[in-house]
Amino acid sequence: MPSAENLKARSEFQDKKLGIFLHWGVYAMMGQGEWVMNNRNINYEEYAKLPAGFYPSKFNAEEWVKAFKEAGVNYITFTSRHHDGFSMFNSKASEGYNIVEATPFKRDVIKELADACAKYGITLNFYYSHLDWHRLDYPLGSTGRQLGRPTDQQNWKSYYNFMNAQFTELLTQYGPIGAIWFDGVWDHAGDAVPFDWQLEEQYALIHKLQPSCLVGNNHHKNLNPGEDIQIFERDLPGQNNAGFSGGMQVSDEVPLESCQTMSDVWGYNITDAHFKSTKELIQMLVHAAGLNANLLMNIGPQPDGQLPAESLKRLKEIGEWTSQYGETIYGTRGGLVTPRDWGVTTQKGNKLYVHILKWQDKGLFLPVTDHKLSNAKLFKDGSQVKLVKSKEGYLLELPAVPDDIDTVVEFTID
Ligand code: GLC
Repeated sequence: MPSAENLKARSEFQDKKLGIFLHWGVYAMMGQGEWVMNNRNINYEEYAKLPAGFYPSKFNAEEWVKAFKEAGVNYITFTSRHHDGFSMFNSKASEGYNIVEATPFKRDVIKELADACAKYGITLNFYYSHLDWHRLDYPLGSTGRQLGRPTDQQNWKSYYNFMNAQFTELLTQYGPIGAIWFDGVWDHAGDAVPFDWQLEEQYALIHKLQPSCLVGNNHHKNLNPGEDIQIFERDLPGQNNAGFSGGMQVSDEVPLESCQTMSDVWGYNITDAHFKSTKELIQMLVHAAGLNANLLMNIGPQPDGQLPAESLKRLKEIGEWTSQYGETIYGTRGGLVTPRDWGVTTQKGNKLYVHILKWQDKGLFLPVTDHKLSNAKLFKDGSQVKLVKSKEGYLLELPAVPDDIDTVVEFTID
């Protein structure tokens, strides 16, 4: 049974609705995403020379966090250690392979982010890779096989202890942490003998260190015991366009979170200019909320420590929208009417918000028969919207064909 603190944290997590995912590591220097080591079969000893050249001279945690705050973001999920095995924090357990000891920068960027987050009231979560392309004790899986690593030193016990030592660091050095976001168990999905990651014990350690720290795992499967969040990669709950969520049933027991890229990739890619429009991103957030899920929107910071200008521009525009419409998203749950082709509904207390994202007519029908709706008005300016009751529900008569990013109509529910 989850503890009372844990249950409270789950509900607070659901209230937050919008998070920023940050994929940042020494791979940013290569400008080809966080998989570059594997994708280009870079020898592990050669890759390990990258940190000595990592000096993100323009990194300023406070500038990042301020930009997130102004966008209406309530949490960030930062890559504490990605598949390349490099720890982006002060980790004694990492035997020197970390940002403080192996780079000329020497600064613990996670400490700086933690301080900035505390100042701006933003929750800090950690992404953590279960698989590792650097350590020799990691039992080789389906990826990272051409990196020149000797295979005679694989030792699960030693690797498992290392990971657990890192959780102790992550959960004692940086104040309260919102969640640990695991990724990579799929590295052993193809094993002939099922691989035992000893997840339950690891989750228990996390919950012992910080009972309110939620555990999520991007394993693309149904929930395992001890997991507090269900994660959907590049898709909203119930969809499977990206091909990761085929084997998943949407849980109605834990908070849901969908992670999405702002451009095409997670880690900084120097040739990727394919950014989603602000409208698409806002509609994604609204869709997620209507499905009772959070949106974790990714940014890949540059090697110099700055956020890409394209991302900053979108953050600013999202902030303009959330400052006006945030009330219809934050703290809500999926509403009375399940998602439709025209949009979604959200709900908070006795308020129902109908979010019309795409609709060609002035009339819109809401199939609500078990509740009484009244007091319909446009959220934007409070102007009355005519509501006609029928046996099957309510017909809304809008003043005009909706053409905003999100035309929100507010109702009182009895
Ligand atoms: C995938 C990728 C990884 C990325 C993650 C984000 O699992 O392996 O690089 O961090 O998706 O959802």
